[in-house]
Amino acid sequence: MGYSVGAFVPVETGNMESGSLSVDNEVPQVGLEKKPLLSPYQLGPFKLSHRIVLAPLTRCRSYHTIPQPSHAALYYAQRTTRGGLLIAEATGINETSNGYPHTPGIWTQEQMEAWKPIVKAVHDKGGVFFCQIWHVGRVSHASYQPNGAAPVSSSSQTCTSDKIYLPQADGAVECSTPRPLEIHEIAEYVDDFRKAARNAIEAGFDGVEIHGAHGFLIDQFLKDGINDRSDKYGGSMENRARFLVEIVEAVTEEIGADRVGVKLSPFSHSYGATDSDATGLSVFLAETLNRYNLLYLMGVEASGCGDEESAESLWPMRKAFKGTFFIGASAGAEEGHEAVRNGKADMVVYGRLFLANPDLVKRFALNAPLNDYNRDTFYSQDPVVGYTDYPFLEDVESQRLDATKYTPLNTKIAEFCSRATVL
Ligand SMILES: Cc1cc2nc3c(=O)[nH]c(=O)nc-3n(C[C@H](O)[C@H](O)[C@H](O)COP(=O)(O)O)c2cc1C
Repeated sequence: MGYSVGAFVPVETGNMESGSLSVDNEVPQVGLEKKPLLSPYQLGPFKLSHRIVLAPLTRCRSYHTIPQPSHAALYYAQRTTRGGLLIAEATGINETSNGYPHTPGIWTQEQMEAWKPIVKAVHDKGGVFFCQIWHVGRVSHASYQPNGAAPVSSSSQTCTSDKIYLPQADGAVECSTPRPLEIHEIAEYVDDFRKAARNAIEAGFDGVEIHGAHGFLIDQFLKDGINDRSDKYGGSMENRARFLVEIVEAVTEEIGADRVGVKLSPFSHSYGATDSDATGLSVFLAETLNRYNLLYLMGVEASGCGDEESAESLWPMRKAFKGTFFIGASAGAEEGHEAVRNGKADMVVYGRLFLANPDLVKRFALNAPLNDYNRDTFYSQDPVVGYTDYPFLEDVESQRLDATKYTPLNTKIAEFCSRATVL
């Protein structure tokens, strides 16, 4: 393709086979002064070789909540670079935590054992691997729940903004009406987050990310558009943040603060999670979380198109937070470089682009064209299609694919702006 390529730093030796764990994913060291995303970063105890992070991406291929080493190890290994950080897909903390077909858990020994070879595959290639722990709360259906019970939430308000898929992916339905967690149960759920974090470490993960974003259980407590409680977990920001804070305290005590990140999406309205003062909430949460010396705080952008012109911006949150700050939904490479350059983020998290481009880091280094992602297979259950079959740059070049099969990046960015649905 005629790229001007400088010296390569080999990450792995071996054959270039996208269908095997031996796949090479070396990152070319070219024009780094113009590419801040490719500069190293010391993230607590982790010496990272670049700042491009694999976003947690639910892939619905963990049949009956058991992660599948046979294909998940390949999927994650394909996206691993030496010294790169990957966040695994959202992983349930207990038996009431699911609301998507075939999402993994980490509350049983069997689940933990199944994670181990997947984590090892990432470590074998020199990656740093975190497990994202979550509970979907009201974004669920009774058919996911033990004995067909109601899902739990902060309140009894049903999520009406989106439909969800039934456990066997056999049709979209309305979410079930939830019941609010009782105070004594909240302590049990906090403890389930603590145990899940412990299990993640025992499975070999380097740390955990607490999923407090996108309208799931923690966000259902944080946002006043959902949380209508009148006890100490509702009302003021301090009260609404109490559930998150208790989880952070429990998890950091259990595995150490330098192994814990938190993901928040103050401006996202996913699954009806609105707040009357999103900016105020974002700053309050950043200041509150400063007390815990977290490894990082990750904020999801108001839109996928940068927010310089937006009324809702992560800047106040970023400025209020004293530690490492990640941002997500930054659209493309240039937006990511700019975010690091101007200090808005230390690390940048990529979801859809990384899903479709297993060698995204290399492509960013080379300014190479990107594979387009196929939305239809985001949440399908095939162990290969739309999962481990996205081509590497070398595959594309060797097959001399027609350049018209690629979507130029500016077209992608326009598409990001016109599509709102993410988890
Ligand atoms: C298929 C898919 C699955 C996702 N799963 C998760 C998830 O498990 N946990 C999470 O926090 N966010 C999840 N997200 C949101 C992404 O992590 C990310 O915040 C979002 O896609 C925006 O980043 P992007 O513009 O780089 O894709 C998902 C997004 C997609 C497209």
